Amino acid sequence: MTMVKEIMGQCMVEAAFSSDVSRWSSTSTQRKRFCFKRQRTVSMLIPTFSELKTMFRQQVPFVKLDEFSKRELDLNQVTLTIAGTVTIKNSRITDNQEMMMAMMFQHFDTCNNSVRERGIFMQLVSTEIDPRTTETKLSNPVVFDWLKHFKIGAERSTCKVEFEIDSNFGFPGAVIVTNKYDKEIFLEGFSIEGVVDIACNSWVQPDKVHPEARIFFSNKAYLPCHTPAGLKELRKEELKQLRGNGKGVRRGGERVYDYDVYNDLGNPDKGKEHVRPILGTKGYPSPRRCRTGRPPATTDKRYESPVNSLVESYVPRDEVFEGVRKEALDVEKLKGTTRNLIPYIKSCITKCGDFKQLSDVQNIYKRKHVDKMKPQNENGTTAKWSLPMNMGKIQNDVEEYFKFNTPPIISRNGCCLQDEELGRQALAGINPLSIKRLETFPPVSGLDPSIRGSQKSALEEEHIIDHLDGMSIKQAMAENKLFILDYHDAYLPFLNGINARDDRKAYATRTILYLTRLGTLKPIAIELSLPQGEPSKQVVTPPLDATSHWLWQIAKAHVSSNDAGVHQLVHHWLRTHACMEPFIIAAHRQLSIMHPIFKLLKPHLKHTIQINALAREALINEGGIIESDFSPNKYSTEIISAAYRDWWRFDMEALPADLVRRGMAEPDPTQPHGLRLVVEDYPYANDGLLIWFALENLVRTYVNYYYRDGMMVQSDSELQAWYSEAVHVGHADHANASWWPRLSTPSDLTSILTTLIWVASVQHSAVNFGQYPLGGYVPMRSPHMKKLLPKEGDPEYKDFLEDPEGYLLSCLPNLFETTKFLAVVNILSQHSPDEEYLGQRKDLSDWAGDPEIIHTFYEFSMDLKRIEKEIENRNKDPKRRNRCAAGIPPYELLMATSGPGVTCRGVPNSISI
Ligand SMILES: [Fe+2]
Repeated sequence: MTMVKEIMGQCMVEAAFSSDVSRWSSTSTQRKRFCFKRQRTVSMLIPTFSELKTMFRQQVPFVKLDEFSKRELDLNQVTLTIAGTVTIKNSRITDNQEMMMAMMFQHFDTCNNSVRERGIFMQLVSTEIDPRTTETKLSNPVVFDWLKHFKIGAERSTCKVEFEIDSNFGFPGAVIVTNKYDKEIFLEGFSIEGVVDIACNSWVQPDKVHPEARIFFSNKAYLPCHTPAGLKELRKEELKQLRGNGKGVRRGGERVYDYDVYNDLGNPDKGKEHVRPILGTKGYPSPRRCRTGRPPATTDKRYESPVNSLVESYVPRDEVFEGVRKEALDVEKLKGTTRNLIPYIKSCITKCGDFKQLSDVQNIYKRKHVDKMKPQNENGTTAKWSLPMNMGKIQNDVEEYFKFNTPPIISRNGCCLQDEELGRQALAGINPLSIKRLETFPPVSGLDPSIRGSQKSALEEEHIIDHLDGMSIKQAMAENKLFILDYHDAYLPFLNGINARDDRKAYATRTILYLTRLGTLKPIAIELSLPQGEPSKQVVTPPLDATSHWLWQIAKAHVSSNDAGVHQLVHHWLRTHACMEPFIIAAHRQLSIMHPIFKLLKPHLKHTIQINALAREALINEGGIIESDFSPNKYSTEIISAAYRDWWRFDMEALPADLVRRGMAEPDPTQPHGLRLVVEDYPYANDGLLIWFALENLVRTYVNYYYRDGMMVQSDSELQAWYSEAVHVGHADHANASWWPRLSTPSDLTSILTTLIWVASVQHSAVNFGQYPLGGYVPMRSPHMKKLLPKEGDPEYKDFLEDPEGYLLSCLPNLFETTKFLAVVNILSQHSPDEEYLGQRKDLSDWAGDPEIIHTFYEFSMDLKRIEKEIENRNKDPKRRNRCAAGIPPYELLMATSGPGVTCRGVPNSISI
């Protein structure tokens, strides 16, 4: 309890014990402290907390009064004045122009309007129904002029407000707010000390633009069936506001959450080449996204017009990036643009910009351990700038400054992707989700032979038998020694289209890997497939001579490029960003902010709709960065849709289920959590399981606290509506799938919530924050390839024999494409300075009425600290060669906390980049 008090403060913990909603009654004790006068307002002395507890616990059931009783009540009617504090967060003013605007706003608003025409109107709402009118009890409306308290430069302003309530008002449970200014305000909170706390944390729009009054409920959690009578209608009204009417263009400042298909990725008005399938329609299944209602395209009304300077992208107001998060993103975007300037000019001048030698690639990055911008004195201290300067040095320094930071991976692998590194990255890289245990040899395609023709693998025993330490293939498979990276079915249907471009060439690859006695994976054969009709399949094996050495290197580069595309489109975008969005939309539409499950999920829902909207504008849209940088090119949307159709299942998104599905773990009751990993040193799974079970423990305790049995789960109307809508509307294209988990018991709910929080936090971090540090060196991980393997007889074969390294470099993106790619993955790998990590909550007041939950959450935070320590120890353990060996970076992606910037660690609560 001491710890809890430290976290929450004494007052809130005490308030938490006043769990019963009762009414204020005129007892003799109260009369000593209150001065009552009939029909007159008087000052109110705030009672002590223990007095309030006594008063509130005398719950009186609602009884409609007869006329006599009403008259009695009227005769005894008195009014009290009760004081509260409103906190408003001031806009972050970042430059002089904004400062001037703020001052002008303050001045003109004060001059032009009387206090009755401007200001913030508030009314307290009782938790009780008025027995005379059978309506919710309200205080008098009060208005206060926030601008009088507004200080430019201050982070927040607080104002005192006084309400008049009658003596039978009951317990305050909400506040209704109307903004009569011309500008939106950010309402941070409202409190009546010791009585009620309301964490608002929301933008309130001017009523001239959005006339609906806002409702903010007290922090206490209520299941729908426990909602106090006075708040029931408001609870429904608030959700109605959030659902909107499903029509028209959504305007900035609104807070409506609704669904739509992905009809905004193509741009038919620019021409046929710019049309993309509408994801979420027949033939192209997809999760739904947040509806914006933008006007249709001119040439094809099925498409939404793209965002431009006149038509902005709608995102519900409270989802929008603000403050330091927005500033940090803007700075990184600017830095990225600047870093691309010189490579762009060079590419234009040379009309090509291909890398000729490895040093051309390495020159993109900063030299290590050099303070680039600051000249040094002889004694090594930093000198002040002095004139005259060496202009050549300045140029070098400026160039150096705008270079990319050296990703940790580059210093360890100067040239191409080494065999052991390919295997290690499948277990501890940015895509640890594709590796599977080999269960059938040769591998079998799941593509429809009537459409794609026979897809018999070219892999044969002779390709791998010499690498199995004397075992047969059957024996090696039985002993869990063989694994596969299989991108055959993901790419093959699209290869004709992808390879039609002169500057994009890809195979559909399969890589067989062998588990060595050291616990590392070693690639032993690569199958490269092209569509039927061409000399379609070949197998490349580890080298025996100089030529086969380079062919093996180029084949591995193709594997890595296949992996980069699937990682970005499927494991990163689809499985985390896109598949979470329907659950987020449904949560806002169906779960009241008072609902305990909404309170649990809230930090895991934040900013995802915003980052996904930005992705639709610039990353996954036609001509966007994903299309232009990665192999799948204009087939990216189709690959996403095919993976969703053929492969994605919600029940398999739980870590243990995913590992078992891929054959990477087996049920084993002797193990701590009933699961045994097939590869013991599998860093993503090793660390992930620790967090998974800690998270599951938190969620189970939480769910069991609010739901005693299955009946409570089944009868929770909001909870059932949330899950049903997420499945039937948000994931409508899979609505009838049999694999959706039921939601009937506390255990079902625990499983669903653990999976969602896992996906939003840990899973996303595992595939997101290593993108630059572990994937920012194109010779090791190229987002696309320009050439296939050279063949004898090809015009370029002679060039290959003369300069194989040059040939390999000419397969990679050119200088400008590379710097563009690096700038993007660098931004995507950033942590914002205001990041909230798993195990952290800025505002624990959500559980003000439930101190046991705060204890549980605190224990979860401690679990994560212990897990961080354990990960640190694992990274120092030389037996774990996939995370502790010469020249390899430690695996820290699942360490919960991090500083800002690109750190290759840290698990934020939500998907926000
Ligand atoms: Fe992401």
